[in-house]
Amino acid sequence: MLMKSAKLPCIDFPVNNKTLKRELLGKKYPGHIRHIENAFEAGQTHVFRWWDEITPSEKKNLLDQIAIIDFSLIKKLFNEAVLNPTQTTQNNLTPPQIIAVPKNDAEKEIAYRAKRVGENSLQKGEVAILTVAGGDGTRLGISGPKGTFPITPITRKSIFQLHAEKIIAAQKRYNTRIPWYIMTSKNNDSATQNFFKAHKFFGLNQDQICFFTQGMFPVVDLEGKVLMDSKSSIMMSPNGHGGALVALKEQDVLNDMNRRGIRNIFYHQVDNVLIKIADPVFIGYHVRDAAEISLKVVKKCHPEEKVGIVVYIDGNLHMIEYSELSRKDMCAKNEDGTLKYHAGNIAVHMINISFLERVYQKEEPLPYHAAIKKVPYLGEDGNVIDPKQNNAIKFESFIFDLLRHVKKSVIMEVLREDEFSPIKNMEGENSPATSRQDMINQFGQWLRGSGVSIPTDSHGNVIGSIEISPGFALDEEELKNKVDKQLQFNGKLLL
Ligand code: UD1
Repeated sequence: MLMKSAKLPCIDFPVNNKTLKRELLGKKYPGHIRHIENAFEAGQTHVFRWWDEITPSEKKNLLDQIAIIDFSLIKKLFNEAVLNPTQTTQNNLTPPQIIAVPKNDAEKEIAYRAKRVGENSLQKGEVAILTVAGGDGTRLGISGPKGTFPITPITRKSIFQLHAEKIIAAQKRYNTRIPWYIMTSKNNDSATQNFFKAHKFFGLNQDQICFFTQGMFPVVDLEGKVLMDSKSSIMMSPNGHGGALVALKEQDVLNDMNRRGIRNIFYHQVDNVLIKIADPVFIGYHVRDAAEISLKVVKKCHPEEKVGIVVYIDGNLHMIEYSELSRKDMCAKNEDGTLKYHAGNIAVHMINISFLERVYQKEEPLPYHAAIKKVPYLGEDGNVIDPKQNNAIKFESFIFDLLRHVKKSVIMEVLREDEFSPIKNMEGENSPATSRQDMINQFGQWLRGSGVSIPTDSHGNVIGSIEISPGFALDEEELKNKVDKQLQFNGKLLL
């Protein structure tokens, strides 16, 4: 829910300066008059506060920026967010039907059959990977793209390299080619692409990697005025991973997928280091059931865990984001004391391409959500202000809101220790340290499966460091066939 915190003084700039008004609305910028009027009508005249100080090329940039901003949409979203904040208490919530982690032989046999379907689809080259990596990663607080962060326990490979090596290993295993689409934003696109170039695309063919950029949306203050990040530039921020929907279409990415014979997209977030990229079981269930969107979930570990939850609302499938879930629903329990709404979103989806084509026919395929944040901005005196409290609202759309258009879906539960360890913060929960430990623990588990003795501490964490490259083994089964059974773990192991 959007919460209003202490009001900041509203920055306004009544354009009563006749010369300025004449210049802006006169004959000098004929192509821009309509857009300038839109800004005026929406009460956003302060964007011209420094007009007299900026250079002609900066003036042009500002006008070009204004030309692509939908000021009436900003007004509408701001009014909705502030006057009618998102309902947090939902009625008629029910837990969804989930394919549970297989426990007995019969369930394992069903999963095995799904796996065969998924492998077949991979072999036929029908699956592409889509990694969303356009977020600013503000919570992590690093300057470059999150995917460039050095993460593996021993060799410190970057997150991107880890994903790339998993794709290469899957290609080998299924004797196929898996195109990789990476969504960036204007803020990190060139840094991301340069990183890939500098690392020779991590051994992948350059033509199988396609970068595309998501859209941006203006950031507003608590009065709904757009914030400036310089005297000639309105502050913009990535428009949420839901921006992928428009970007896939506008940047010809969907056509590219169609040309390559792709039928389903394996979607994931850049920040999950345990991601099972192109998991054939998941793909198999999705294909078997002709699902439009499929989701992987884990059991939430505590009510406040920052993951969205998958539920039915009035019989329709929805994802409720953690920030929009009421306290009552967050803590609701079953009779046995377990969480009632436990299906935590790990943001791994299968998305059917024909379904996407149908969604484009809808008038408003994805709604916007408002999030209140603390954002440095350019103050009235032209200096950057680093506010002490929340001062800004960002609007984002979420890809999982596509669920509102879905008739067929598969929800598959997986084990957290096998598949979910996101990097969100620099320290504490979901940090590089916890992700490295989760990787080490997973590798330790695989080695134990091969009969190697691996010591753990009282929390179950492996004592020591292990790194197994995806090129050596993608999973426990593969490791079993390769590892020396006599291996003695001496506290550090790199395979
Ligand atoms: C997200 C999910 C949450 C899920 C959790 C699992 C949303 C809104 N919520 O939460 O339901 O349980 O991950 O880890 O996504 N991104 C873009 N463009 C943007 C914004 C984000 O590409 O404009 C990408 C980021 O690069 C990142 C991912 O989306 O890969 C998630 O963004 P983040 O802000 O970290 O989402 P969370 O709040 O952690």
